[in-house]
Amino acid sequence: MEIIITTFTLITILVLVVIIGTKGRPMVFITALAKEISILAMNKAALFWTGLGIFLVFGFLWFFYASPATRIGPEQPIPFSHRVHAGVKAIQCQFCHPYVERSIFPGLPPVEKCLYCHNYIIANFPWIQKEHEYFNTQTPTPWKKVFYVPEHVFFRHLRHVKKNIECQQCHGQIQTMDRIPAKRFKMGFCVDCHKQKEANLGCWLACHN
Ligand code: HEC
Ligand code: HEC
Ligand code: HEC
Ligand code: HEC
Repeated sequence: MEIIITTFTLITILVLVVIIGTKGRPMVFITALAKEISILAMNKAALFWTGLGIFLVFGFLWFFYASPATRIGPEQPIPFSHRVHAGVKAIQCQFCHPYVERSIFPGLPPVEKCLYCHNYIIANFPWIQKEHEYFNTQTPTPWKKVFYVPEHVFFRHLRHVKKNIECQQCHGQIQTMDRIPAKRFKMGFCVDCHKQKEANLGCWLACHN
């Protein structure tokens, strides 16, 4: 769906740029292009608009598919690394996200939990000092959310975790990531597994509110 919208938008931008650039006579551009590139090269205005068009197209693609924020995930207020904690140090997921089985909200760890270790481990590290700041001012760490479901979808971890579905099946290899890339779950993702596992498919009752 997204790819269709993106393609459609790109084509629209391209067509608009050509029409504006040729003052409403796109055939000028098309014949010029078909005839000979060198003619186009002499027509400075057309060249400029074509260049701009190509630039916008690539900018657009880059922004959506390749910008660092998309690839490696948003920058967090503290560069917390799952690779270090859940991978190298093998701390259990549920030590920090204890409510996955109990509440609708898995919960991100409060800063007290970080300090439980970091009062002793690398206590003078600047980022740990920042944790103390959050703690002393009673500010919840403003972590950026990275996993989304569309607004009308109601998801609970409880039954999934009870069925021994691993965190990684839905979240990927979190224990290998420094930053978690943003991800928006699509309905197909839920439905595919529900079909496979013969779970509830009456989603209009169960998942949508
Ligand atoms: C169970 C203990 C424990 C808890 C809880 C814990 N950490 Fe750590 N953390 C560690 C250990 C061990 C290291 C590795 C220290 C080293 O490199 O010597 C570490 C390293 C770090 C580093 C440096 C990472 C790097 O790239 O080298 C940061 C920043 C950090 N932790 C932040 C946090 C934050 C934020 C929290 C709370 C959400 C937290 N930690 C909770 C044990 C813990
Ligand atoms: C030492 C504490 C700690 C451990 C252990 C830990 N996490 Fe986290 N987790 C955090 C913190 C802090 C954040 C918020 C910062 C971030 O997104 O990187 C977070 C964020 C997340 C998120 C993103 C939530 C969102 O949408 O913003 C997921 C998913 C997650 N953790 C899954 C896991 C899984 C799976 C494991 C085990 C492999 C795990 N975590 C182990 C502390 C921890
Ligand atoms: C069946 C798929 C699935 C499994 C299995 C799963 N999650 Fe999630 N998780 C999700 C979805 C979907 C969201 C986004 C929910 C939302 O935004 O309401 C989410 C969100 C989260 C969040 C962020 C919650 C917040 O407050 O923003 C954390 C933390 C998290 N999961 C941790 C875990 C851990 C730890 C495990 C393993 C014990 C796990 N998840 C297993 C699908 C799953
Ligand atoms: C990896 C497989 C898997 C994925 C992915 C998955 N589910 Fe499930 N889901 C299950 C299974 C298995 C059950 C049945 C649990 C049971 O019978 O106790 C279930 C049960 C449910 C239930 C009914 C139980 C409850 O908690 O009320 C809802 C609602 C639900 N899933 C929503 C979702 C949504 C929304 C998504 C997508 C964000 C999703 N699921 C993704 C496997 C999955």
